[in-house]
This record gives sequence, structure tokens and C-alpha cells, in this order.
Amino acid sequence: MKGIMVLLLAIFASTLAFKDSPKMSNAVVLYNEHGRITNGTLAVKGQFPYLVRIRLYSFANKINQCSGSIISSIWVLTAAHCFGNINYCDIYFGEISEKTARFQHRVYNKSFVLHPEYDGGSKHNDAAMIIIPRISFSKYVNKIELANEAKHANLTGWRAYAPGWGARNDTPIVSKHLYYINVTIADDELCEAFHYFQPSQLCVSTAHNQSTCRGDSGGPLTLHKGNFLAGISSYGGPSCLNNVPQVFTRVTKIFTWIRDVMDIVS
Ligand SMILES: *[C@@H]1O[C@H](CO)[C@@H](O)[C@H](O)[C@H]1NC(C)=O
Ligand SMILES: *[C@@H]1O[C@H](CO)[C@@H](O)[C@H](O)[C@H]1NC(C)=O
Ligand SMILES: *[C@@H]1O[C@H](CO)[C@@H](O)[C@H](O)[C@H]1NC(C)=O
Ligand SMILES: *[C@@H]1O[C@H](CO)[C@@H](O)[C@H](O)[C@H]1NC(C)=O
Ligand SMILES: *[C@@H]1O[C@H](CO)[C@@H](O)[C@H](O)[C@H]1NC(C)=O
Repeated sequence: MKGIMVLLLAIFASTLAFKDSPKMSNAVVLYNEHGRITNGTLAVKGQFPYLVRIRLYSFANKINQCSGSIISSIWVLTAAHCFGNINYCDIYFGEISEKTARFQHRVYNKSFVLHPEYDGGSKHNDAAMIIIPRISFSKYVNKIELANEAKHANLTGWRAYAPGWGARNDTPIVSKHLYYINVTIADDELCEAFHYFQPSQLCVSTAHNQSTCRGDSGGPLTLHKGNFLAGISSYGGPSCLNNVPQVFTRVTKIFTWIRDVMDIVS
């Protein structure tokens, strides 16, 4: 597994919360146990077989929840900001209701690979990979293909799914189920008006209070067309219920890093 697995974590002491957007700093909620996408639709079994729920622990205190995507039989892709001072995490596979995971794995922090240029302030390169014991694919647990620069350089106007286990509104409300929303990928300008937005990110417009929220971090943005993974849920505004656009890490911009990490262990 070579030396590179033993990496980083030190730089993330700052924040864990989804909503800690640089321009819109506000009370940071560090931990919502579960909940859901706001005003979303219940997912059905097998609809998002690549989606995993990740519970992150620091010295045995449960401190955060994120989502992630299976991108190969041994790699999960998620957000770097999930990993401040984390000792291990539990990853739940093939689950749409809490406690009905097909299986789960506990993974210790030597198996986390954070993007080397992740910037906790701007959330630039908010991406991390977790190496997991090799899994076999099924109808309910499967990988997703990555979006690529050739086909997906300009995604403005594309429709996408954003599923996740995050909060359902601005208070921590428990939900035991996986929800998703249909969203439209917006022009960068929309997010530039709200956030310290960079071209390495994807902007998703929200309407009808349908938004990603705390706890959805690290989760996928999946293109309807072709079912490619285009984004990693990163941050939004302090409220999830004001139709502020949401920011995702743009997968095409970190594609090379992902491939390089996967090449080391495949
Ligand atoms: C990884 O977890 C161990 C305990 O499980 C802890 O001693 C160590 O400091 C952690 N490493 C990092 C980089 O957080
Ligand atoms: C991206 O696609 C949108 C929608 O098709 C189009 O309006 C826009 O001009 C394109 N942007 C670039 C930089 O090609
Ligand atoms: C999301 O979009 C897909 C594809 O257009 C559609 O089949 C599905 O019904 C939509 N779901 C919701 C909740 O709008
Ligand atoms: C969105 O949620 C807020 C807070 O609950 C509510 O005041 C507002 O009316 C909702 N907006 C829509 C379009 O339903
Ligand atoms: C939820 O979304 C629907 C559109 O799908 C919208 O009609 C409704 O007002 C939204 N509810 C809230 C509370 O925002």
C-alpha cells in the first residue's frame, strides 16, 4: 500500500461542517447524526448503488456524518473537509434506510488520502479517497464512472441527482432514510454571487427549498445523462432553506489526482 497512505489530516483542524462557506461564515453545526436532503424524494433500493454513508469518529466520539461514492472495488471518493482529526470511520454500503446496510467496513485513518492541495478556507480541491477492503458489486452496491474532461468540461444546464443522508432543514432532525433531489448545474456566475467560488468547483442552483444540507458532504452529484459522477458535495450557505446555490468539487478538475491515487493501489 506504499507510503502515501499515511498522509495529511493535520491541516483540517478548522471545520467539519458542510455549511462553513468562506463568505457566509455563521454558527457552525459540527454534527447532525442523520437527516436528509431538504425537501427531497425518498430513494428506492438500488437507485444509487454507489452511494455510501460514512460516520466519522474521533477518539470514539461520533462527530460527523458524510456521504461518499464508490468509484472502484477498493476506493470511495468523498470530501476532504469531512476528515478533521478523524481516527476511523464506518462506511455503510447499499443502504437506503439506516440499519439496513448490506454490509459495512470500519476504516482507520491510515487509509484516508486527502487531496494534497485541499484548502480548508476556500474548500478548493475538497476531495478525499478512502481505500476499503475489496468489495464485490451487485445490483445494490456498485461503482460509478467519473465524469471526464472530454465529455463533461462544460456542464452548464445539465440535470443531475444529488442524493444524501444530510439534514432535512436548518435544525438537526433525524431521518432514517436516503433522500435525493433533481438539480440543474448552473453557470459559475451564479455561485460567484454567493460564494468564494472557483473554476475547480461546480455550481448547482436550488429551488423550492430542495437542497443539499449538513451531512450530505462528500456525496455525489450524478449526471442524468450517462450516470457519470460530476461533483462532490462541498458547501452552501448557512441555511439550506433559502435557495442559495450549492457548491460541489468538480470531478473533471481532480480526475488526474484520482487516477494517480487509484494507480498506486488497484
Ligand atoms: C489516526 O488515529 C490514531 C488513533 O486511532 C491517532 O493516534 C492518530 O493521531 C490519527 N492520525 C491523524 C493524522 O489524525
Ligand atoms: C457552456 O454551455 C452553456 C449551455 O449550453 C452555454 O450557454 C455556454 O456558452 C457554454 N460555455 C462555454 C464556456 O462554452
Ligand atoms: C428526477 O428526474 C428523473 C429523470 O428526469 C425523473 O425520472 C424523476 O422522476 C425525477 N425525480 C423527481 C423527484 O423529480
Ligand atoms: C423554504 O423554507 C423556509 C423555511 O422553512 C420557508 O419560510 C419558505 O416559505 C420555504 N420556501 C418555499 C418556496 O417553500
Ligand atoms: C418542495 O418542493 C416542491 C416542488 O417539488 C414545492 O412545490 C414545495 O413548495 C417545496 N416545499 C417546501 C417546504 O419548500
